[in-house]
Amino acid sequence: MDEQALRAAICAHGRSLFARGFSVGSAGNISARLPDGVLITPTNSCLGRLEPERISRLDRAWRHVSGDPPSKEVFMHRAFLEARPEAGAVVHLHSTHATAIACLAAPGETAPIPPLTPYFVMRVGRTLPVVPYFRPGDPAMEPAIAGAARGGAKAVLLANHGPVVCGRTLDEAVHAAEELEEAARLALLLRGAGARTLTPGQVEELLATFGG
Ligand code: 13P
Repeated sequence: MDEQALRAAICAHGRSLFARGFSVGSAGNISARLPDGVLITPTNSCLGRLEPERISRLDRAWRHVSGDPPSKEVFMHRAFLEARPEAGAVVHLHSTHATAIACLAAPGETAPIPPLTPYFVMRVGRTLPVVPYFRPGDPAMEPAIAGAARGGAKAVLLANHGPVVCGRTLDEAVHAAEELEEAARLALLLRGAGARTLTPGQVEELLATFGG
């Protein structure tokens, strides 16, 4: 996808996420890798009203080169994009149910959402580490997230803050963020109800068949 198409796709995904309540106000940010840098949504922008030409462009050294000033969460995006070279995009949301789990789970947990459905396992993978709380924009979150990403995580929950998800493409990252939110919603709906989860064998079959 060329840069103009990628800018348009970021805006379209932002609009869609916002319209469905996955993001409110100016919460959330989206980044996508370019051959010579990164596109990232501007700080304080509303995902529902992004404009392609105002998206921030960073160079390979993560310096702001054009567009509006970048998200203050550049560090969380850099953590995934540098630790996982195959990742092409990162999505951070404050989506309600994933954030609720991020408030319930203990930092250090690696599976705060049980494997209830195949698509959660297929899109998010085997682990979802809970990273300790950091103030939004705190660069100290970068090594914590990068450590989880290097350990194999495609997504993390930031304690008391929300999910960060990567994907090979922008579509993949957005789809995984959506599956994570829905899995969190199911986990909360079914809390204490003794719901059946997928077995370890079923989880491994999914990862072997669809990647993980
Ligand atoms: P930005 O507006 O700087 O992207 O920050 C929004 C956000 O989601 C903070 O976690």
